Amino acid sequence: MTPVHAKPVLTVDDLEVRAGDRLLASLGELRAAPGECVAIVGESGSGKTTALNAMLGLTDGLRVTGKIVVKGTDVVTANERALSRIRGSVVALVSQSPQSALNPTMRLGTLLKRVLARHGLRGAQAKERTEEALRSVLLDPGLLRRYPHQISGGQAQRFAIAMAVALRADVILADEPTSALDVTVQAAVLDLLARLRDEQGIALVFVSHDLAVVSGIADQVVVMREGRVVESGPASDVLHRPDADYTRELLDAVPAIGK
Ligand SMILES: Nc1ncnc2c1ncn2[C@@H]1O[C@H](COP(=O)(O)OP(=O)(O)OP(=O)(O)O)[C@@H](O)[C@H]1O
Ligand SMILES: [Mg+2]
Repeated sequence: MTPVHAKPVLTVDDLEVRAGDRLLASLGELRAAPGECVAIVGESGSGKTTALNAMLGLTDGLRVTGKIVVKGTDVVTANERALSRIRGSVVALVSQSPQSALNPTMRLGTLLKRVLARHGLRGAQAKERTEEALRSVLLDPGLLRRYPHQISGGQAQRFAIAMAVALRADVILADEPTSALDVTVQAAVLDLLARLRDEQGIALVFVSHDLAVVSGIADQVVVMREGRVVESGPASDVLHRPDADYTRELLDAVPAIGK
């Protein structure tokens, strides 16, 4: 349940990301409170992933201006040490291809152990967090003995989410988390993210080009095109009473939402 006056755990103001002079992504204002889902939608190349990566401080070689504050840390000005402290434990990424983000030579259990240790969690505490996280994403603990190539795409996505849960991340940045999965598995992963948002108060920033998916999970929607925000606001407004022609075009491609 989203408390009405919950303080945002992620704020973005006047963000601009450039490669040389070319604007790749900009966000005037974005707020994500605990238990809230902000969706960023737009066509391929509109700057969604660039904006999301900026929230993790992953902007090597790019020029970034503006402010991105995650639980008190300004990601734009933070040094590598501060960034590695918050990555995973405060703000976690769930990517489009979780399997390729996992080290192929390591069993999942070893991988999780190392990630937890990096954030100071060892021994009994790490074990407890691991069991609790696997339970909450409905993964069998037996999976920890497997290597990344021995699990399915849906299981890999659940495992990526379990890592965020184990570290008690405040914010999950999900970049097209279901587009590589088949439809039934997609629905299960979406349900899981929605449940974590509702039950554990995790803030979600959810990137997708699929408005049907977005309409089921988003509280706020930001529409991007060519690196700029075309329209943003509560999901009920943007998806049902859009201001921008571009948003209407996107919606027309998914007739079920308009009804
Ligand atoms: N490091 C970089 N250097 C230069 N240009 C980049 C860099 N990263 C991304 N771009 C460019 O920025 C633009 C936005 O890319 P981005 O990956 O953010 O789009 P997207 O909205 O996530 O698209 P998709 O839906 O295909 O994933 C693209 O034109 C891309 O080529
Ligand atoms: Mg992308």
